[in-house]
Amino acid sequence: MDISAQFKHNFDCQPTHISRAPGRVNLIGEHVDYNNGPVLPAAIDRTVIIAAAGSADNTVHLHALDLEERVSFSLASLEGKIDLTGNPLPDWARYPAGVAWSLKVAGLDVRGLRAVYTSDVPIGAGLSSSAAVEVGFAALWQALGGWDIDRLELAQLCQRAENDYVGMPCGLMDQFASACGVEGHALYFDTRSLEWLAAPLPPGTSIVIADSGVRRSLINSAYSERRASCERAVDLLKEYLPDIRSLRDVSPIELAAYSDYLPDEIRKRAEHIVKEIARVDSALNALRREDKRAFGALMYSSHTSMRDLYEISTPELDTLVDLTRRLPGCLGARLTGAGFGGCTVNLVEDPYVVEFMGGLEAGYKMETGCQVQVYLCRASQGVSIQEI
Ligand code: GLA
Repeated sequence: MDISAQFKHNFDCQPTHISRAPGRVNLIGEHVDYNNGPVLPAAIDRTVIIAAAGSADNTVHLHALDLEERVSFSLASLEGKIDLTGNPLPDWARYPAGVAWSLKVAGLDVRGLRAVYTSDVPIGAGLSSSAAVEVGFAALWQALGGWDIDRLELAQLCQRAENDYVGMPCGLMDQFASACGVEGHALYFDTRSLEWLAAPLPPGTSIVIADSGVRRSLINSAYSERRASCERAVDLLKEYLPDIRSLRDVSPIELAAYSDYLPDEIRKRAEHIVKEIARVDSALNALRREDKRAFGALMYSSHTSMRDLYEISTPELDTLVDLTRRLPGCLGARLTGAGFGGCTVNLVEDPYVVEFMGGLEAGYKMETGCQVQVYLCRASQGVSIQEI
């Protein structure tokens, strides 16, 4: 699709900017970001593409090409979450509107905008399609307003939009990865200190994503429940470990020492987080040693932990992970993202990629009678703006 032509078709003039913001895959470190731990995602070569130009009327005019829907809203009435006719904003428009709101609250100059956009990040698949929309629009407003803030800060403003405007209590990982991605690299991101570094992916390996096609609608409440369990664990453990602020501050040995004092469900949730944090650090070491087998083994144990302790997997995702153990060339596999459906991420040795992808599709069809979407993906750069 020629996005500039689409813009011209809609607004009868040329766009001045094109923004491209990637989705992300998380390689390891799941549900760790809101516990202040480190995560290891990568931006991927699936993107939201927005063509845009400023508009003098303090209004945002949007056309979501994939949905074939349009909306216009005023920058003066963002709080009300309404369009120009006073109707509630449709869900999809709350992401860009939330970004405009968050930027304005931060005191930044946010201009009227005309934009068309499209995306090949699958929606609701755990690949952060909404973070890509947020980051893509934030970078556009930054280019139009000419303000000087770094990509990480931009990501934080997008997270604020999602937390306080859209109402999803997510951590910072997705917006960070979309904003700061580095081609060919995983991103080790410490969500407490906000320090990060890019680590090359194991040489001779590829990332393969398998989309189970399962989408769960109540994900917001399940996500909030998990978050609340972690907070409860911290409250209970404080009696024995008074200095902790989050599960990031609890070592696996300390948790083992005090886990008898936690209710069973809370103990399981905390054990996932505390050990997942240790796995992320081990995974970074494995990348540094170019030890792809160790990295893969950590992915498998992360999946087992999400299945049995954090309880965010589904039968479909478990089948996809189990199948990989019988396929040649697969070093590791796990569900990626918030869980309750969506995708698995697989680390596969290059010479086996085609065979692996075909084998996973055929095996899944045989076991479940259903189709799985399997695709190769490249670790990519973060958001970029092209001026026309
Ligand atoms: C979603 C959230 C992230 C993170 C993951 C789970 O993608 O947006 O902040 O918590 O789930 O790791």
